[in-house]
Amino acid sequence: MTMLRKLLKNFDKKLYFNQLSLSTRLFCNQSNVPLTESKRPAIVLGIETSCDDTGCAIVNSTGTILGESLHSQLQFHNKCGGINPPIAQEFHRKHIEPVVTESLSRANLSVNDVDAIAVASRPGLTMSLVVGVRYAKHLARKYRKPLIPIHHMEAHALMARLENQSKLNFPFLCLLASGGHCLLAMVKSVNDFSLLGEATDGSPGECFDKAARVIGLTNLPEYSESSGGRAIELEAYKATNADRFVFPSPLNDGRNCQFSFSGLKSAAITTVQDLQKSAQIEPDQLIPHHEDFCAGFLKATTKHIMRKTQRAIQYCERKGFFGFGANTKPRSLVFSGGVGCNDFIFRALSEMASEFGYKTFRPPKRLCTDNGVMIAWNGIERWIDNDQVYRELDIDSVTPLDRQPFRTNLVEDVERKNIQCTWIKVPSMQSNRLVMT
Ligand code: KG4
Ligand code: ZN
Repeated sequence: MTMLRKLLKNFDKKLYFNQLSLSTRLFCNQSNVPLTESKRPAIVLGIETSCDDTGCAIVNSTGTILGESLHSQLQFHNKCGGINPPIAQEFHRKHIEPVVTESLSRANLSVNDVDAIAVASRPGLTMSLVVGVRYAKHLARKYRKPLIPIHHMEAHALMARLENQSKLNFPFLCLLASGGHCLLAMVKSVNDFSLLGEATDGSPGECFDKAARVIGLTNLPEYSESSGGRAIELEAYKATNADRFVFPSPLNDGRNCQFSFSGLKSAAITTVQDLQKSAQIEPDQLIPHHEDFCAGFLKATTKHIMRKTQRAIQYCERKGFFGFGANTKPRSLVFSGGVGCNDFIFRALSEMASEFGYKTFRPPKRLCTDNGVMIAWNGIERWIDNDQVYRELDIDSVTPLDRQPFRTNLVEDVERKNIQCTWIKVPSMQSNRLVMT
């Protein structure tokens, strides 16, 4: 009898939550915060496993982070000289459950209390994505919650709205730069992204990581837990002669917004090899004047990123994406992805963009790199729009994808416009010491 009562109780509970999920409608309070039927802000649990970070967070529709947890594999991959997908998958498998449990306990909530589960399902390393997607599906089925598959790059872009909901409205231009990507996109709404340009080879993050390794920075104990990009940035601020090493700025001639990083990477490797030969030092020893090397390398990368972004701004103006005349909207540029942590690049972009009347936003640094908060927040934005929210049997159709293009591709249109730009200069490196954090 007790058993039967227990079963009935559990059955009712499941039915109740199922109905709640299916019938959840959103209302807004006076300050425009979306609320569920029970008149509380909507809550989404987000899971991120697209590369080498296992992240989870619980975020509500007021933009409050209720609980979060992140396990980074950086220290391990730093030692191995790069990411090994099967090993990354093993780490995700080991950490996914503890990371989700920790976020829930920090939020003082159970999965029953959340309205939906969001998960990064594309693009990324398939072997990594699959761990998060499987776990999210398991939670969605077990707790009868809707599942929201999230585009990792869109999540980086929308992250900037979490703290700036009132100031950062659609449309906006965004530059996403990380270890796997570099792209410029016009964002018209939560699910309307148009690609203006992307990296045809490599990425700035990968370039920084490689350069940090070849000049011997990653062997220094102070950078054992730091990304190559951060190590290069901090050493660059110590430079005494930022012009000692001059690196070529790639693809200057193409009147497009396409990026290329392989030339910069090879230039870094060749310069280091020459230095090692002339100074007779071993390959893993720190090169002489490494601070100046970092400054020169950061400047060249910044110049390339800045110029492509300037062309993107001028293209947006030509196309009237922010309206013309009386209907003109505020111009915003978002800088996000791991490379978004870089203060020098952020300052250079902000100064250039302000010349065109654009205000530049970026998420707090810890939320520029991969994390669960960005997935949960994108989940909230989609939940509010009731866009791509998968329920019941539809959940099975959610699968990881290593690539997925944005809705519209304007890369060729940018090239056709043949926009000639008068370049805004890269700021001087020295003064950035003041904003170093
Ligand atoms: O977005 P993210 O965490 O992961 C990917 O999706 O790739 O970005 C990681 C990348 C790494 O390549 C790292 O070197 C770079 O972001 N990064 C930086 C800085 N902090 C992290 N690059 C330049 N300056 C930084 N301060
Ligand atoms: Zn990322």
